[in-house]
Amino acid sequence: MHESGTLRPMIVWLRKVLIRLLLPVSWFVRRRRPVETLCQFAETESDSGWQFLRAFDQCPDPVQRAHLFHNLLEEREHASLFTELVERRGGRVRLSAENGRTSLLEQEGTLPAFLAYVHAGELDIAHEFGAYARAVPDDDVRTVFEHIKEEEDGHHSNLHGALLAICPDRAKAAALVSRARRRRTWRAFQRGSKRIGDTFLVVWLIALYVVLGPFCVLQGRRRLTHRARS
Ligand SMILES: [Fe+2]
Ligand SMILES: [Fe+2]
Repeated sequence: MHESGTLRPMIVWLRKVLIRLLLPVSWFVRRRRPVETLCQFAETESDSGWQFLRAFDQCPDPVQRAHLFHNLLEEREHASLFTELVERRGGRVRLSAENGRTSLLEQEGTLPAFLAYVHAGELDIAHEFGAYARAVPDDDVRTVFEHIKEEEDGHHSNLHGALLAICPDRAKAAALVSRARRRRTWRAFQRGSKRIGDTFLVVWLIALYVVLGPFCVLQGRRRLTHRARS
């Protein structure tokens, strides 16, 4: 799995296009879909805060600890904003227990590898939040996505500074970021494939219902009429 100079921008562009095309359809087709999407975002943001808390404990540099703590607070705020949107729509967010979460710090092995991984991820998130802000039909949801996008841009920069402070060897830091991007690209491809499959399945089932439904109704009426006469 190698990342060429043009592959990543293409994937980012494709993901943004898919969000803008598929989200309005899925939100229109399934009434509970907006609440489900917003619950997923509340969970993701809460998990991001938890990941920064784990890294905060391990960070030896007091300035970078302060940056991580700042990010942690903002991720908690993002989770609260999505939770408010869910509750306004009559839903309820149920966050995963801590022991059910995967620690990215442990998964990546070292603090520099963790910082590279989340640094790469924050840029992806900022791009996607921009696409979500343009795709969602509700004004209050759009405002939240636009607000969070600005802060995720800041996280991306903070984390690069933290990475260089903990790992001053720029070549090594760049290699860690490249590796993190490749892994994120592969995971995004897997998630995207599943989402496309799920959405087309819903559209296909609705098409079957619309096409076959009237024939079934007519057939049923004929049988009932036939039985009533005989
Ligand atoms: Fe966030
Ligand atoms: Fe973030």
